Amino acid sequence: TRLAVFASGKGSNFWALSQAMQADDFPAEIVFLVVDHQDAPAVALAQQLNLPVHYLNYANFKSRQAAEQSLLTTLQAYRVQGILLAGYMRILGETLIKAYPGRIVNIHPALLPNFPGREGIKDAYEAGVAETGVTIHLVDAGIDTGPIVAQAPVRRYPRDSLADLTERIHASEHELYPKTVQQLVEKGVFNP
Ligand code: GRF
Repeated sequence: TRLAVFASGKGSNFWALSQAMQADDFPAEIVFLVVDHQDAPAVALAQQLNLPVHYLNYANFKSRQAAEQSLLTTLQAYRVQGILLAGYMRILGETLIKAYPGRIVNIHPALLPNFPGREGIKDAYEAGVAETGVTIHLVDAGIDTGPIVAQAPVRRYPRDSLADLTERIHASEHELYPKTVQQLVEKGVFNP
């Protein structure tokens, strides 16, 4: 199963996914990485893996739709069957969502529907919850609203700093995302 990963930032989830997919029996591969910033640290990781990077410079297009249309041509040329968002800080539009219905996956660092948005870890921390976690969901037109496919709880201890909690959340993400992608692939979610 041929997948593309979209990332804007550090790329630690992209890295975790790519490491898991190096196992001979993993039923999927990352075909290329899509970034919306040329200097995203994820780009250097892709280079280490000898994986092609597709830089989508939205500023070169008159609309998000035009940018996505151009990206779609590349995705189709590479026969990409599904998309894994891993810290991609943009909302996807109809063009991609309609081209990959139910085949775009996102990871969110909180237990949705709690704490959606950009600051899932910090918002949960500041709300003082004793438990937060990680969610994997399919992407629809809303923000962090599509069907949930997996969740893992993460404890927040009273003496935790935000950095402690952040680290624990990321460790959980790096375990849950590859495992869930494997299950989705095995269920045939990305099959034509
Ligand atoms: C992760 O916490 C993910 O849940 C969120 O963005 C972060 C990306 O981190 N959507 P990284 O770039 O994979 O390290």
